[in-house]
Amino acid sequence: MAWTPAFREGRDWLKGRLTDAGLRVVEDAAANVWGWWDVGLGPALVLGSHIDSVPDGGTYDGPLGALEAIRALRESGTVPPFPLAVVAWADEEGARFGTGFFGSAAFVGEPVVARYIALAGDGARDTLTAAGVALDRLDTVAAERAHVGAYLELHIEQGPRLEAAGVPLGIVSGIFGLHREEWTLTGAPRHAGTTPYAARRDAGIGAARAMLAARDVARQLAPADGEAVATVGTLALAPNAANIVPGRATFLVDMRALDADILARMSAQLAARIAVICTEEGLTATSQVVLAAPPTPMHPAMRDAIGTAAARLGVEAMSLPSGAGHDAGIVAPLVPAGMLFVPSRDGISHAPDEYTAPEHRALGANALLETVCVLMEWGLPG
Ligand code: HGY
Ligand code: MN
Repeated sequence: MAWTPAFREGRDWLKGRLTDAGLRVVEDAAANVWGWWDVGLGPALVLGSHIDSVPDGGTYDGPLGALEAIRALRESGTVPPFPLAVVAWADEEGARFGTGFFGSAAFVGEPVVARYIALAGDGARDTLTAAGVALDRLDTVAAERAHVGAYLELHIEQGPRLEAAGVPLGIVSGIFGLHREEWTLTGAPRHAGTTPYAARRDAGIGAARAMLAARDVARQLAPADGEAVATVGTLALAPNAANIVPGRATFLVDMRALDADILARMSAQLAARIAVICTEEGLTATSQVVLAAPPTPMHPAMRDAIGTAAARLGVEAMSLPSGAGHDAGIVAPLVPAGMLFVPSRDGISHAPDEYTAPEHRALGANALLETVCVLMEWGLPG
């Protein structure tokens, strides 16, 4: 989990591996860990992902293949025409504070600390600083963009499409838009035993109805199941006691859709439904957007390079969108980005039984390496 002692240990372990691979190791002001192969000329091709996880997450959601691709290149004696780097972006998952993509958002110059403090309060500033973030030097992270010409990420699909199609490699066409809101419903704390329903303003009931409304709105707007989704994964009731009617309910609604218009309509329709719920339940509501990333296409030249690599390897590949957010989606507006997927068994992710077969992991790493070779021939996209 990001911003924990284990996160520091994980970064230190990774730095050891990058050093062993002969790379120049940098931890930047946003706690991103980079391994640089300073070779060739011009902007670098960066291979990356994240090493942080989610609570009770799986083992495969994150780093896959990037370091091995660079090690294999170095062992082969190949001299790339441009620099190469591996990056582990800090706090991709946002599990600690409910918002994420910290390291990649800092890299694209987003005011990411303000986003964290808006959700978690000033304590977030202290936690980030204690974990090694240099809050006053985040501009140096964005300055690194001058040295980066393209970004490539291999990741498990975290969904069911590749396995259902029997195809071992995915070429990501684009990443769903993500719109995450924090809602607080306020009613009145009352005795659970003595308060008639007519006198209740139960924020817990309001939250329960809002959760159902989020699912209904997503299902009604989705062109097909899974193409627009809304999830409430966190819920805090206050005062949070068995014998008190909840006076306050705070929850995060995570909305995703490949279509920006559907995503906007989902948010608007949910707000309208919550307004009605509040009227009927005698509640008031406040909300704030805690994470917003528009639907983001992957760069066509990067997609072509992955397709060419798959063809050279004789591997069947298919194009598919990503319902999962990724650092590739955060950097894509400023850096040509591409993503490769390998199958997730039963489409399971963000759960302990997340699994990707060894042959798929090896195939993905080989396809990543072959894509790097294609880009070395073609040059990085302009
Ligand atoms: O939330 C996501 O989509 C990603 O797994 N961080
Ligand atoms: Mn991930």
